[in-house]
Amino acid sequence: MKNELIEKLVREAEKSMKNSLAPYSKFKVGAALLTKKGNIYTGCNIENPSLMLSACAEKTALLKALSEDERSFRAVAVVSSAGKHCYPCGSCRQMLLEFAGDIDVYTANANEIKRYSLKELLPFAFSV
Ligand code: THU
Repeated sequence: MKNELIEKLVREAEKSMKNSLAPYSKFKVGAALLTKKGNIYTGCNIENPSLMLSACAEKTALLKALSEDERSFRAVAVVSSAGKHCYPCGSCRQMLLEFAGDIDVYTANANEIKRYSLKELLPFAFSV
């Protein structure tokens, strides 16, 4: 993917991170999911006092896209407020793989953007 597009995806994830509701963990996360059509769906983490009801940024972005009838995806970018690379949690990896397939995963901190394939992050994934 071209650098410009990767950087745009990271910027969109950063913008979304500003909307994060993370009063419990204080760990803000933003994600931006790029579709094959070129649309970008963003998401942030949304925590709930009943912590198990909280939603991750990647899941928020994915559900937003799926609910708009998007079915083909290209890449996802993930950023956090912690100043280090934030990798999608296991459950988001599983969910992304199920609906988006083996997309590129970009994680970014202030200095560097890293790329992984989703299958690299979730080898031997569960499937039915
Ligand atoms: N979180 C995400 O939004 N995405 C991830 O991939 C890892 C974790 C959120 C969940 C929770 O709101 C906070 O980060 C860490 O406790």
